[in-house]
Amino acid sequence: MCGIVGCILKENEKAAPVLFNCISMLEYRGYDSIGMATFNGEIEVKKARGGIESVDAKLNLKDMDGSFGIAHTRWASAGKPTDENAHPHLDDTGSVAVVHNGTLENYSELKAELIKEGHTFRSSTDTEVIPHLIKKFMDEGLNLEEALGKCTTRIRGSYAIAAISKAEPDKLMAVRKYSPLIIAYGEKGYFAASDTPAVLEYARNIIRLKDGETAILTRKGIRILDEKGEEIEWKSKYIDWTPEMAKKEGYKHFMIKEIVEQSCAVKNTLIQKASIEKIIGEIGDVKRICFVACGTSYHASITGKYLIESLVGIACDVVIASEFRYTAKTWDENTLVIFISQSGETYDSRMALKEANKTSKTLAIVNVAGSAMSEEAEYVIQTQAGPEIGVAATKTYVAQLTAIYLFAGLLAENDEVIDKLYKVPAYIDEITKKREDIRKLCESYDFKGHAFYLGRGFSYPTALEGALKLKEITYIHAEGYAAGELKHGPLALIDETVPVFVIIPPGEDYTKTMTNLKEVEARGAVVISVGAEGDDKIRENSEIFFEINPEVDDMIAPLVYIVPLQLISYYVTLAMGYNPDKPRNLSKVITV
Ligand code: F6R
Repeated sequence: MCGIVGCILKENEKAAPVLFNCISMLEYRGYDSIGMATFNGEIEVKKARGGIESVDAKLNLKDMDGSFGIAHTRWASAGKPTDENAHPHLDDTGSVAVVHNGTLENYSELKAELIKEGHTFRSSTDTEVIPHLIKKFMDEGLNLEEALGKCTTRIRGSYAIAAISKAEPDKLMAVRKYSPLIIAYGEKGYFAASDTPAVLEYARNIIRLKDGETAILTRKGIRILDEKGEEIEWKSKYIDWTPEMAKKEGYKHFMIKEIVEQSCAVKNTLIQKASIEKIIGEIGDVKRICFVACGTSYHASITGKYLIESLVGIACDVVIASEFRYTAKTWDENTLVIFISQSGETYDSRMALKEANKTSKTLAIVNVAGSAMSEEAEYVIQTQAGPEIGVAATKTYVAQLTAIYLFAGLLAENDEVIDKLYKVPAYIDEITKKREDIRKLCESYDFKGHAFYLGRGFSYPTALEGALKLKEITYIHAEGYAAGELKHGPLALIDETVPVFVIIPPGEDYTKTMTNLKEVEARGAVVISVGAEGDDKIRENSEIFFEINPEVDDMIAPLVYIVPLQLISYYVTLAMGYNPDKPRNLSKVITV
């Protein structure tokens, strides 16, 4: 995944520093190379392998001339992260420049065809075919708009593209299919970007392009064409996210800021209660529920299954989005398929949603307003975590859980569960206030090799999520297990070198989990427990014990017990010298 930005500003404004600020806000989407192109009589391109700051220090990106241009931050998919493969890419004559997020399936054929016709390629990316095709069609007599339109009939795959041409200065073209793209306008001018945080400082009137739509931005305004090339009327939404929300505000990393913001994410999502009640009223008869999601959102879905089955008694399945095609055959009109996605743009989830819409009722729980899935699902619950920039999902996970608990509690007409939710923000704050203690512990303990996370019932998905948080940012191999499953094989791996995190809140399963805790302790494991404050039995049997407010019972625990696990992952990452906001090989939105 990559991030793209384009802007066309008022004539006296310089585009480069604006583009630089915008693309910096998208670094979470990719950070192996960076590049910009601006126009000032000629198209000037500066690009190189490396992070934004280091490339700027070398090339002085902010100093480029011109009042319009495009920028890109890359996460390599086709072609290694090298200077040549960095975007923008040009045609042979340097008169068309393009940035692209997505993957082109048929680029090898197109490249071979263009080479035969005499085009010379400088990179091994799929993207480079785009400027060559546009230029070829312009040479055949088409204008930029028509040439880009024709180009999109030739390329196959996913794309968000921004393009400029020397032949038609003062025009910025943007088009999307399967990769996200927004158009925005504000005081300084007009923008196209992969995601809202890029433009918040300059523009908060946002239009989300739909698949197949093309935007033409000039200093006179915005035109939008549908897939057939017909001009359509557009409406923008004013977005109330502030630029500060997408900045670090004094925190060292986005991840720690977002962990601390979790109490607010819960509070703000609780405000959605009335709209969830309305959705439940409209959905009608549901005999079966199926959750579909990926990664962290998948873990939130498993919690949803346990909750709905125990509170409401409706049978629930949970399907990993990329596996849906093998399992979805029995969905019907009485099935409610719930899609959970922070971004609302995840490719596998979107494809599953498209299928589910053919047979069943669909509900999307998404954090990004106006994202593709929020447009495509029949019903939408909008979590209120605000923009999440850290690649590892934290506050959006607890916001998803809040929405699921509200949904399940309201469906079951269970006021007790709903009432408990209102106390969650305070429990979370109690933990994040003590984060210095966790930092010291993580610095003094040598986490190496492998780690296990154990939990039962509601705490099983917490174990999965705790393990995912550790492995994705520390690169320590970690596995989450249903506590009772460990003895069916993995117990063989436990010895005195292996830390085992045991999630053991008070409640029905406490005694069983305590048995599992003792099993691993007996095999010499380093037991790190998360349980109720003052529980001496846990303390006696653990090397490290993170104490949580004893009012938090096993049912509500997923919203709270994940917090110390996130903090541990964050501080272990720092102790190991890695950047938690930018885990290697990963990016925030997976649109391929
Ligand atoms: C992990 C993480 C990913 C995402 C997954 C789904 O910290 O962030 O596992 O949860 O890529 O993304 P969304 O929720 O945007 O569909």
